[in-house]
Amino acid sequence: MRHDSIIILDFGSQYSHLIARRIRELGVYCELHPCTIKAAELHAMEPKGIVLSGGPYSVYEDGAPHADPALWDFGVPMLGICYGLQEMSRAHGGEVAASEKREYGHAELKIQTAEPLFKGLPEHIQVWMSHGDKVLSLPDGFSDIARTSNSEHAAVCDPRRNWFGIQFHPEVSHTPMGKTILENFVCGVCGCARDWTMGSFLEETIERIRQTVGESETVIGAVSGGVDSTVAAVLMHKAIGSRFHAILVDNGVLRMKEAEQVMARLRDRMGINLHLIDAGETFMKKLYGVTDPESKRKIIGNTFIEVFEIEAKRIGDVNYLLQGTLYPDVIESVSFKGPSATIKTHHNVGGLLEDMELKLIEPLRELFKDEVRALGLELGLDEESVYRHPFPGPGLAIRILGEITRDRLEILRHADHIYMGELKEAGLYRDIGQAFAVLLPVRSVGVMGDSRTYEQVIALRAVQTTDYMTADWYPIPTEVLKRISNRIINEVRGVNRVVYDVSSKPPSTIEWE
Ligand code: XMP
Repeated sequence: MRHDSIIILDFGSQYSHLIARRIRELGVYCELHPCTIKAAELHAMEPKGIVLSGGPYSVYEDGAPHADPALWDFGVPMLGICYGLQEMSRAHGGEVAASEKREYGHAELKIQTAEPLFKGLPEHIQVWMSHGDKVLSLPDGFSDIARTSNSEHAAVCDPRRNWFGIQFHPEVSHTPMGKTILENFVCGVCGCARDWTMGSFLEETIERIRQTVGESETVIGAVSGGVDSTVAAVLMHKAIGSRFHAILVDNGVLRMKEAEQVMARLRDRMGINLHLIDAGETFMKKLYGVTDPESKRKIIGNTFIEVFEIEAKRIGDVNYLLQGTLYPDVIESVSFKGPSATIKTHHNVGGLLEDMELKLIEPLRELFKDEVRALGLELGLDEESVYRHPFPGPGLAIRILGEITRDRLEILRHADHIYMGELKEAGLYRDIGQAFAVLLPVRSVGVMGDSRTYEQVIALRAVQTTDYMTADWYPIPTEVLKRISNRIINEVRGVNRVVYDVSSKPPSTIEWE
């Protein structure tokens, strides 16, 4: 089934992903593409409307990105947001220049013409501005539909072509009525049906997987217990049953009872054809004596591929490799700014594709993380696995600072288990983006009874974040911290001190190594 869709042309704004998410929240399918995409390519996608995003450039500067001129003859409604408005104006003879005053933050928008973009809104609304340039004179055919004290052309419209431009950002939460504005454009002006639901995605994806894989071919994929690989695995199982082989590699640096829980959830409860590879010894031998974080990562990444490959060859006659690629990774790799320098190395089993001549299957590549979670719930997964915090591929190895020994692993596992349990008990787990314990490479003096102790230190980390690129430390209530600290010091042998990490990212990172 082909859905009504909206295309967003990305001019590089930090908010471009948010536009896509807001439109999808309306139940309308949309895709983000680089602003430089050729209009001919867009025609093949048959969008019902186009949104031009904001961007960090000035339209009149050398090197500023511009839309394909053929875009302007496309014939569907368009909405330009911030840079998008300026680009639309520039291309049609309007004048854009630096504003005397940069406008950043809240502004009050006075609506002059309500229909169709501001339908159902009061005359004055709060909007979020973030611009240094503004439109000074409008192209022919355009007129103002709203203004702020600083922007005469805060919202404009060319009713003949159904083109709209707004200087503010409707996609951010600081524009409380922004969703209605997007809804008026997408569902009202463009007439899109709201048929993009997780239920429809699920049915269509299962059908697509069956068509791709056919009647007899097989698929392998790694699962880690994380939400992406879990949802991808359950989806594959629903589509092709036991012709999907899931592989769980126990690398010896998983959390307490992690492998058992994944087995219970995916094999016993969901019926997935899951192979557990107990490779803890192999990994531990290679990690012995290693203290450098990047070396730990490399050893774990390479050993993972070796172990995975052996199992894949043992299964034999495999045709596809499943990867839990998400939409942000896809957008990142096609951005007009080029792929970002940060390349995920772990679980990058790409080498297998060539060695074993496998084809790639990525059923989640259209989804954002919160959509993957919604799909997980639709597939009947329990909330615990759907809302699990991310866990890095190198596991506890990069949370034991310094050398990894069995004793130190036991200490960290136990402390982390207490910490997670108490966060869940206090109802804080879902509110926190990521939390974990770290074992520090120092000893500190303490007293226990009458004697002096000289033992290890546990640091607790908890962060609030939406994208894991930036993060704030999470303010766990003192009472809860007290309970966690008491329990760890009393129950975990070898620890006599607990500290709380109050650093944000940047300049710190979320992990300690
Ligand atoms: P940092 O520490 O860079 O972490 O602020 C950002 C997010 O990435 C995770 N992380 C990793 N995940 N392999 C992974 O699979 C790694 O080597 C790795 N290093 C960091 C981290 O847990 C956080 O969610």
